[in-house]
Amino acid sequence: MTGIDLMISEHDLIERMLKVMRQASLKLVNSGEINYDDFYAMADFVKVYADEHHHAKEEKILFNRMVEELGETGRVIITHGMLVEHDLGRLHMAELKNALQMHREGTREAVIDVVASAVGYANLLSRHIDKENKMVYTYAQRGLCAQTLAQVDEACEAFEKVQAQKGVQQHYSELVAALEDKYSQ
Ligand SMILES: [Fe+2]
Ligand SMILES: [Fe+2]
Repeated sequence: MTGIDLMISEHDLIERMLKVMRQASLKLVNSGEINYDDFYAMADFVKVYADEHHHAKEEKILFNRMVEELGETGRVIITHGMLVEHDLGRLHMAELKNALQMHREGTREAVIDVVASAVGYANLLSRHIDKENKMVYTYAQRGLCAQTLAQVDEACEAFEKVQAQKGVQQHYSELVAALEDKYSQ
């Protein structure tokens, strides 16, 4: 599997979790009750899998090379588009954790911030993934030279091995499956 194909397959797992986030938010709206453990588990997935596992690979292995080799268009797409959206996602997650904490401490109103940040993140990442799958990755595959694409593949493979030794891929795919079982309707 190429590094880019691997990233596309990671998008599939992330999108499954985004769906869970919307379904859990809907359940919260309907019931008025927050399952703290589940929302913290979603935030943990976003931090460790979506951000430290997937976005880190994009930023340190693929996007940096696109900025270096694809001229002004590549630089603008990455630095003004993809990286800004990664940062916006981190802001949504900081707001989610803050809202969960405030709600736990008795601020009932924070329930709307839990829903807003979870759904806001899910919608942002869904659009972001669509852009990467349809445009950004294709642009990389067409524009980067064969040698660079081979380096991307090698670096991804090495990173995957390190992460697999820590059990990251297995743990988070199991987490998504468990939450899907609970929230799919
Ligand atoms: Fe991304
Ligand atoms: Fe991505």
